[in-house]
This record gives sequence, structure tokens and C-alpha cells, in this order.
Amino acid sequence: MKNRILCGALPLVALCLSLFAAPGWGTTLGDIFYSRDAGPADQPPAYFPHWVHRIKYKCYACHDALFPMQRGANPTMAAMEKGASCGACHNGKTAFAVDTCQRCHVSQ
Ligand code: HEC
Ligand code: HEC
Ligand code: HEC
Repeated sequence: MKNRILCGALPLVALCLSLFAAPGWGTTLGDIFYSRDAGPADQPPAYFPHWVHRIKYKCYACHDALFPMQRGANPTMAAMEKGASCGACHNGKTAFAVDTCQRCHVSQ
């Protein structure tokens, strides 16, 4: 019942049950902290907060057209500036643009 309420729709219950039952559920949909070697003068690695986005979007807003449901290669700023990856939304219209570096590149 709890899963049904959380997921809202019957067809999703099976998927949700499998996700809730999956080991590491608590971290699976949490914040994604990218890793990259960054010197002191560089932007620190970016992070992606899943649940902040889930407030507005269903999974399929991003999966799998924009991102696979698994960790892959780090996104690049060049792709974002062309409106791909995070830049599909972070374009100054749907969400804040990629010129506000420190909103994504946060020192941990
Ligand atoms: C909407 C979120 C977001 C914003 C805003 C953003 N970035 Fe990024 N950036 C990312 C993500 C995600 C990555 C991939 C993970 C990483 O390397 O930190 C990345 C990667 C990078 C990289 C390494 C890869 C590459 O493409 O060179 C640099 C350097 C970088 N960002 C600089 C910046 C600077 C400078 C700004 C501001 C002008 C900025 N970013 C704004 C999300 C963002
Ligand atoms: C706003 C976009 C967005 C939405 C909405 C979204 N995700 Fe993601 N998801 C991402 C990004 C970005 C990644 C990281 C991909 C990468 O590292 O290449 C990711 C990664 C994942 C991963 C792999 C995590 C890991 O650490 O291996 C899973 C599982 C996942 N998402 C499930 C979901 C589910 C389930 C939903 C809906 C409840 C959802 N996502 C909604 C963007 C989104
Ligand atoms: C489907 C659209 C969409 C995609 C794709 C997307 N975002 Fe967002 N993101 C939003 C919206 C909408 C907001 C909230 C509106 C705003 O603050 O402008 C937001 C907010 C954020 C925030 C601020 C969270 C907070 O606590 O205020 C960060 C950080 C962020 N996104 C990073 C990313 C990164 C990194 C990626 C790519 C890996 C990404 N987003 C991809 C739509 C998206």
C-alpha cells in the first residue's frame, strides 16, 4: 500500500516494488555526485539532486532519452551549451542557465 501511494499508478507498482526492494535503494535515487579531478582553480565536480527534479518531473522526462538509468560518462558543458544533457532544461527558460556555475558545482 505504501508503495502504491508513493507511485500513484498501478502499472508502476511492480517497478516500484522492485526498486524499493533493490539493495541500495536509499542511495539509488539520491543526489548524484559526479567525480572529476579538479584543481583548486577549477569548478568543483557538479552534483545532480534526483528528488529536487522528481518534484516536477516523472522519470521518463529524463530516462532514457536524456540519460540512461545508470551511471555513465560525465556530461560535458559543451553538450549543455548546445541544449543537450542538463542543458535540455538548464537553458534559462525551463530552469536556470548554465552560466550560474555554483548552483551545480558545489564544493562538498
Ligand atoms: C545545470 C548544472 C550545471 C551548471 C549550471 C554548470 N555546470 Fe559544469 N558541469 C555540470 C555537470 C553535471 C558536469 C559533469 C560532472 C563534472 O565534471 O563536474 C559538468 C562539468 C563541467 C566541467 C568539466 C567537463 C567539461 O565540460 O569541461 C567544467 C570545467 C565545468 N563543468 C565548468 C562549468 C562552469 C565554468 C560553469 C559556469 C559557467 C558551469 N560548469 C555550470 C553541470 C553544470
Ligand atoms: C531531471 C532528470 C531526471 C529525472 C526526472 C530522473 N532522473 Fe534518474 N538520473 C538522472 C541523471 C542525470 C542520472 C545520472 C546519469 C549518469 O550518470 O550518466 C540519473 C541516474 C539514475 C539512476 C542510476 C543511479 C546510479 O547511481 O547508478 C537510476 C536508477 C535512476 N536515475 C532512476 C530514476 C527514477 C526511477 C526516476 C523517477 C522516479 C528518475 N531517475 C528520474 C536524471 C533524472
Ligand atoms: C527535465 C528538465 C531538467 C533536466 C534534464 C535537468 N534539470 Fe536541473 N532543474 C530543473 C528545474 C525545473 C529545476 C528547478 C527550477 C530552477 O531552480 O530554475 C532544476 C534545479 C536544479 C538544481 C538546483 C537544486 C536546488 O536545490 O535548488 C540543480 C543543482 C540542478 N537542477 C542540476 C541539474 C544537473 C546537474 C542536471 C543534469 C545532470 C540537470 N539539473 C538536469 C530541470 C531539469
